[in-house]
Amino acid sequence: MALYPLLRPLAFALDAERAHRLTIGALKLLPPGLPPAPDPMLAIKVAGLLFPNPVGLAAGFDKDAEVWRQMLGFGFGFVEVGTLTPRPQEGNPRPRLFRLVEDRAVINRMGFNNRGQAAAVARLRKGRPGLVGANIGANKDSSDRIADYALGVAALRDYADYLTVNISSPNTPGLRALQDKSALDELLAAVMEARGNNGPPFFLKVAPDLSRSEVDDVVTVAMARKLDSIIIGNTTISRPPLVSRHSAETGGLSGLPLKSLALDRLRDFRRATGGALPLVAVGGISNGVDAFERIRAGASLVQLYTALVYEGPEIAERINAELKRLLKRHGFARLEEAIGQEKD
Ligand SMILES: Cc1cc2nc3c(=O)[nH]c(=O)nc-3n(C[C@H](O)[C@H](O)[C@H](O)COP(=O)(O)O)c2cc1C
Repeated sequence: MALYPLLRPLAFALDAERAHRLTIGALKLLPPGLPPAPDPMLAIKVAGLLFPNPVGLAAGFDKDAEVWRQMLGFGFGFVEVGTLTPRPQEGNPRPRLFRLVEDRAVINRMGFNNRGQAAAVARLRKGRPGLVGANIGANKDSSDRIADYALGVAALRDYADYLTVNISSPNTPGLRALQDKSALDELLAAVMEARGNNGPPFFLKVAPDLSRSEVDDVVTVAMARKLDSIIIGNTTISRPPLVSRHSAETGGLSGLPLKSLALDRLRDFRRATGGALPLVAVGGISNGVDAFERIRAGASLVQLYTALVYEGPEIAERINAELKRLLKRHGFARLEEAIGQEKD
């Protein structure tokens, strides 16, 4: 039975961050579920990893790697923990997380609050079941941001199936400047050196606010540096029309109002890569139709966070079931066949 419709009014009566802490606490009490088995239609190989299905939990929900087992148990094909910084940090002053209920959206300016990489490593021991990515970032007060990413790679390379280099949070001042061509090249050279020869694949998480020429620059550097995948993308600093009372809050906007922006940006990346680099789509995905649309626009995998807040953890299984129906209806035997098959 789906419990979430009963729990949601209770959670929504609380301040959003308190509700999130309580949710993590409650999830920790659940027995760790088994990760989903590879689905014959949906399983897909990306960056040398076999994803049992394409629906992942995006970074930011399980920042400190506390409940990834339980979330895999709800049917997510993979979970991305973090963002983790080398040293623990508090993040921005509260309040810093806002539900925009009428808009099916969230605005957050958390600022990489987390207990640091060493604490997470203790919970990410080797030999774990299921696929877990670790998303790494820089401490706010770091004097050498690039060195922080290299530290993250060294700390987490043996404890995650892939590493996400997150240069797109709007809540750490200056972080997004690492998306500029020469800074990005320097950053990727440093993380690759820190990884060494047989570390996990690298995913790069970018902002949905990049212009076409910035997309081209990111792709040029990513291909030259042999990156494994690009995640498009993080929250937006733009403000499409919103009606909720929190709409003027500073921070990154996620959920339904981000959907068309994230889809447009995915299309730009697909055009720029010509399908040569696997893409992960994130932003406003809440059902099978959304996921199918991103896959046909060029994504190999999808992730979500905000829709989980509104619809509960059963969302992963629901999207996978809807995806299978849509694939069949459109004559695809396997997910892989549908990637990038959008008609102009
Ligand atoms: C409260 C909150 C915290 C987030 N924290 C992170 C984070 O630490 N690192 C990161 O890469 N993305 C973070 N994100 C961004 C999500 O991973 C995702 O890219 C974005 O919310 C768009 O997807 P959605 O519309 O499905 O939520 C956060 C999002 C939210 C709502």
